Amino acid sequence: MHGNFNRGFLHPGGKQATEKLLSFLPQLGKESIVVEIGCGTGETAKLLLERFPYSYIGLDAAPAMLDKAKSALSPYSDRVSLIKCDLRVDLFPVPAESIDAIIAESVIAILAPQTIFRECYRVLKRGGILAWNDRLWGETVSPSDRLKINKECKRLLGFPAAPDDLPKADDWKNLMESCGFKILLAEKLLSSTHVARLHQGSVMPKRTKLVHLLVNLNLLRFWYYDRAIERKYRELWQKMENWIFVAKKG
Ligand SMILES: C[S@@+](CC[C@H](N)C(=O)[O-])C[C@H]1O[C@@H](n2cnc3c(N)ncnc32)[C@H](O)[C@@H]1O
Repeated sequence: MHGNFNRGFLHPGGKQATEKLLSFLPQLGKESIVVEIGCGTGETAKLLLERFPYSYIGLDAAPAMLDKAKSALSPYSDRVSLIKCDLRVDLFPVPAESIDAIIAESVIAILAPQTIFRECYRVLKRGGILAWNDRLWGETVSPSDRLKINKECKRLLGFPAAPDDLPKADDWKNLMESCGFKILLAEKLLSSTHVARLHQGSVMPKRTKLVHLLVNLNLLRFWYYDRAIERKYRELWQKMENWIFVAKKG
């Protein structure tokens, strides 16, 4: 649905949080390769490719996202590969120890985090960097509220809001360490602009969106579920915490 609407920076904190994340990437050369997990419509990749000489591999499961990313990144096509894969079941389609840095925004928490961290560790070169941001449950959302929201998200959207068993940043740090990473940074984003601001960068006029919704009933269904969940749980949503993690393969 977000791909159809050409929405970018689909994570709390939007472009500002992306700028911060990219500031932790190493200054590497032309031969360096960066992978993005869940590349979406390619907005983060555009910033990355403007600034760094890296080659870029974007992974995503959604054809609509990859289509939009392909056109957004066409000026950089000689440095870009976009690969469709479902990271709930597929391994990263790159060789072991071949990647210099991995970035991920608002996606690891809806996948199987331990499997993803192990894959990151496998494909990164020694000293390679994993930088990611996501929304965590944090300290204030109760276990019963976590379960209630996740149950509804799974039923209506097909994935949880965030894992029930990893509510706190320390849980994530421990998990990354158990997969071999050395944590360089774990920072909670504090500014109110970092809280629950999604859907930045949408360039589609309202009327076009409406036409899309009316001709595609499946899209209409998900648009409705997405809004219904957001409205119903807005208060709890806002209690969730947004974090940036940077880790190094030791
Ligand atoms: C919340 S969006 C974030 C997109 C982008 N990183 C950004 O910040 O704008 C999550 C992205 O992960 C992709 N994604 C979700 N589940 C996936 C899966 N199982 N395998 C690969 N990509 C997935 C979605 O298609 C979407 O593009």
